[in-house]
Amino acid sequence: MAQQTLILIKPDGLVKSLTGNILTRLSESKLEIIAAKMARVSKELAEKHYCHLKDKPFYNELIKYIMGELHDRKKVLAMVYWGDDAIGKVRELAGETNPEEANPVSIRGQYGRITTKGLYENVIHASTNEEEAQREIKLWFEPDEVIVELYQTKISEVKNIKKKVWA
Ligand code: CDP
Ligand code: MG
Repeated sequence: MAQQTLILIKPDGLVKSLTGNILTRLSESKLEIIAAKMARVSKELAEKHYCHLKDKPFYNELIKYIMGELHDRKKVLAMVYWGDDAIGKVRELAGETNPEEANPVSIRGQYGRITTKGLYENVIHASTNEEEAQREIKLWFEPDEVIVELYQTKISEVKNIKKKVWA
């Protein structure tokens, strides 16, 4: 069954210059990339993305991590991968959340580490189920940024909105 999943290359993945390696590993899935962009992560976006982890002891450090404050690299590469069993295939390639427990040949097993504060720096985010994928894709992307019609859309007329355009 065709599925879609949100993948983020987290700031540690970018700072360690792992983008190419991670994309190469992900290409083993034979899935299609249907959206991709570099994104700045505001506090608001970080908190929405990890809203379900609000009560965890590592939450504050996690928010700093995804915002790039721990790596002086204030951006992530956000992508949507699409195809048969996309969620399971990408989670398999990503490996377990804890990089020390992850399969050593998985992306997290190869490139992740645990910081002295105990945070899992595991270089990549991947959605865990269809409901989470839907919530996350809608959070990170506008409908027009995704080249496949994944979810229902509607036309909304927006008046008097100021936005930056090319001069
Ligand atoms: O990313 P994943 O879905 O595998 O795990 P999560 O439970 O949704 O947690 C989100 C992120 O929080 C992880 O990817 C880790 O970066 C971090 N985390 C951590 O530092 N320590 C934990 N015990 C659990 C998660
Ligand atoms: Mg998760």
